[in-house]
Amino acid sequence: MTETTFKIVGLPGDGIGPEVYASACCALDVLAETRGLVFELDEQLIGGAAVDATDDPLPQATIDACRGADAVLLGAVGGPKWDGRTAEQRPEKGLLRIRAEFNLFCNLRPIVTHPALHAFSPIRAERLRDVDLMIVRELTGGSYFGKKWRDADQAEDVCRYTAPEIERVTRAAGRIALARKRRITLVDKANVLETSRLWREVAHRVIGEEFPGVAIENMYVDAASMHLLTRPADFDVLLTENLFGDILSDEASMLCGSMGLLPSASLNEDRFGLYEPVHGSAPDIAGKGIANPYAMLLSVAMMLRHSLDRPDEADSLERSIHACWTDGLLTRDLRPDGMGTADVTEAVCERLRAEAALPAYT
Ligand code: NAD
Ligand code: IPM
Ligand code: MN
Repeated sequence: MTETTFKIVGLPGDGIGPEVYASACCALDVLAETRGLVFELDEQLIGGAAVDATDDPLPQATIDACRGADAVLLGAVGGPKWDGRTAEQRPEKGLLRIRAEFNLFCNLRPIVTHPALHAFSPIRAERLRDVDLMIVRELTGGSYFGKKWRDADQAEDVCRYTAPEIERVTRAAGRIALARKRRITLVDKANVLETSRLWREVAHRVIGEEFPGVAIENMYVDAASMHLLTRPADFDVLLTENLFGDILSDEASMLCGSMGLLPSASLNEDRFGLYEPVHGSAPDIAGKGIANPYAMLLSVAMMLRHSLDRPDEADSLERSIHACWTDGLLTRDLRPDGMGTADVTEAVCERLRAEAALPAYT
C-alpha cells in the first residue's frame, strides 16, 4: 500500500445493502477526484447474495480478497427470502463468520445526537443535548459463538467468555475512554449471570491496573436500557458483551432519530476493520430508493479515520453530512416529506466537493 492507494473490499450484500453501498461508492469517488486518493474497490459476495450464487454465505473468494485489503465496507445482509435456510446457510452466518475469521472483536458504535435532528427523535429534545456516547460491543464471543444445539423440543445457546477475551476488549475501551471523558459504564447482568461476574472481575482489574485515570462503574443491562432513554448524556463509553451490545445499540439509535443514522467499525488488534451501518437489510423498504444512506456514509468516515489513517478526509465527510442535516436534507425514515437515497447522497457529495476547494486542500 502506498500512502494514497487503498485496497477496499466492498460487500454490498442484500436488501438495502447495495443501495446504501452505492452511496458509499459515490463519496469515495468524490474523495478520489478531489484529494488524489486511489481506492481500489474489489466487490465480493456475502450473505443472501452469496448463498444464491454459491450456497455459501461467506465464500472463500471473499475471505481471500479481505485478507489482502486495507479495510472492508459492508452494506447489510439478510432477508425473508433466506429464512428457511439451515443455520449454516443463513445470510447472517456470513457476517458472523467474517467477524470470527478476522478476529474483529471490538465493535465501535458511536451515538452522537445532532441539534438539527433533535426534533426527529421520539425522545424529548432536552434529554438529547450533549449526547455523545460510544458503545464498545464485544463482537466475537458470548452466546453468538458458543456451543449450540437443538432437537425437536429443546435448544441451547451457550454463553461463554474467557478472561483474555474480556481483557482485550476492555483494553480497547480503556484506550477509547482516555481520549474521551474517561468514564466507562460496564453493562451486564451480574446479579444473574456467571459470565457477567467474570466480566466485572476482569474489566475492573484491567482498568484499575492499566488505566488509572479512567473510572469504571457497573450497570445492569435492564436498568441501562432505561437510563439510555432517560439520561443518555450521562454515558461516555458503554462497554458490554455481544448480545447486550446488539440490543442496546438499536435502542440507542432512537436518540439520533433513526436506525439509518448509526455507523459502526469492527476492529481487530492490527487496526484492520470492517465498516458497516448498524442497521440491517430493511426488507420492508428495499428496492424503493428511499433507504437512509447516512449510516453508511458515516461508516466510510470511520473507515477513513480508523483503518486508512486519513483523519482530514474523515472530518470533511462528517462536516458535509452535518451540513446536510442542518439543511434538513433527510430521508423518509426521519421526515414524511423526505428525499430519496440518491438525492441525499448527491447533496453530501456536492458539499464534499466544495470542502476540497477550502484552503487546507488548495
Ligand atoms: P433492520 O435494521 O433491517 O430494519 C429495522 C427497521 O428500520 C425497518 O423498519 C427498516 O425499514 C428500518 N431501517 C433500517 N435501516 C434503515 C435505513 N438505512 N433507512 C431507512 N430505514 C431503515 O432490522 P430487521 O428488519 O430486524 O432485519 C432485517 C434483516 O436484516 C434480517 O435478516 C436481519 O438478520 C438482518 N440484519 C442485518 C444486519 C447487518 O447486515 N449488519 C444488521 C441487522 C439486521
Ligand atoms: C448487527 C446485526 C447482527 C448481530 C446480525 C445480523 C447477525 O444485528 O450487526 O447488529 O446480531 O450482530
Ligand atoms: Mn443488530
